[in-house]
Amino acid sequence: MADNRCDSNRYTREYLDSLMIEQRVIDSVLPTAKTRILGKEFATPVMNSAFSHLGKAHPGYPAAMAEGFRAAGALNMWGMSTDEEMESIYASGADTIEIIKPYLEEDKIFRRIEFARAHGAFAVGMDIDHAYGRNGAYDEVGPEKMEPKTVAQLRSYVQAAGDLPFVVKGVLSVSDACKCAEAGAGAIVVSHHHGIFDGAVPPLQILPKIKEAMGDRMELFVDGGFVSGLDVFKALALGARAVSVSRHILEKTYESGAAGVEQEIRKMTGELVSVMGRCGFRTTQEIDDTVLWYRA
Ligand SMILES: Cc1cc2nc3c(=O)[nH]c(=O)nc-3n(C[C@H](O)[C@H](O)[C@H](O)COP(=O)(O)O)c2cc1C
Repeated sequence: MADNRCDSNRYTREYLDSLMIEQRVIDSVLPTAKTRILGKEFATPVMNSAFSHLGKAHPGYPAAMAEGFRAAGALNMWGMSTDEEMESIYASGADTIEIIKPYLEEDKIFRRIEFARAHGAFAVGMDIDHAYGRNGAYDEVGPEKMEPKTVAQLRSYVQAAGDLPFVVKGVLSVSDACKCAEAGAGAIVVSHHHGIFDGAVPPLQILPKIKEAMGDRMELFVDGGFVSGLDVFKALALGARAVSVSRHILEKTYESGAAGVEQEIRKMTGELVSVMGRCGFRTTQEIDDTVLWYRA
């Protein structure tokens, strides 16, 4: 049967593939992928994405993934999980951003922020786009009820996070980006959460508009279908500071655990460095969109 859904994952892949790159090798040197993210230097701008409850079906996977990112010198991120899963992730020593759901019950949010702070999180945040289901109601994840958040609520989480940066995930408009900046967020993840919203604009297509509106007010991260260093390069050229890889890395965890994750992050980073070299960029900060061409 034909699938008539406006599949945002497909649009996202098509947009990524529509971008081409010109080459500038004369006078170029081998670049470095080292990137400063929220005040700390990492070996690569490739980082993990948020996952939920992976450990239920696959105990040990959350810690293995975190260990793989740590070993690759990359930033880790995690989503909705039990305390035990989160403890195993923090115990790996990986710098980790804990992404909290937009729970209707505010107490749960503040408790999670406190938990993250107590366990040495690198940053905390919220996937604000988990507010709506597809059935004309606010979303529910198991027994947990969600709701869309206001700027004032976001500001209260930023305050509760104290010296930890607050990262808002699931931003897909200049409007929401401006509200995140108003609330005091340190970074946003431009994302449609793996097609949570049919017909959503591809994150990379809207990223330049958000970058133009935000300037250096907040760091911009992006996710959505990244599988190679070439994809990562395109995201950096369009204004991202760092790139989250989700399903692609999950596959590597299934195949070969922490070692597979580390190997894949190093591979993607190597591919990125090669593309940077071909374009004459020596650092990830130098990359810009002047090398991009758009296929009709
Ligand atoms: C199994 C699975 C669990 C996820 N759980 C969460 C979550 O708890 N919180 C969240 O913000 N995003 C969650 N996501 C969304 C990812 O973080 C990411 O935004 C999305 O998959 C897009 O990236 P990708 O195209 O590289 O997969 C999940 C994705 C997958 C595949």
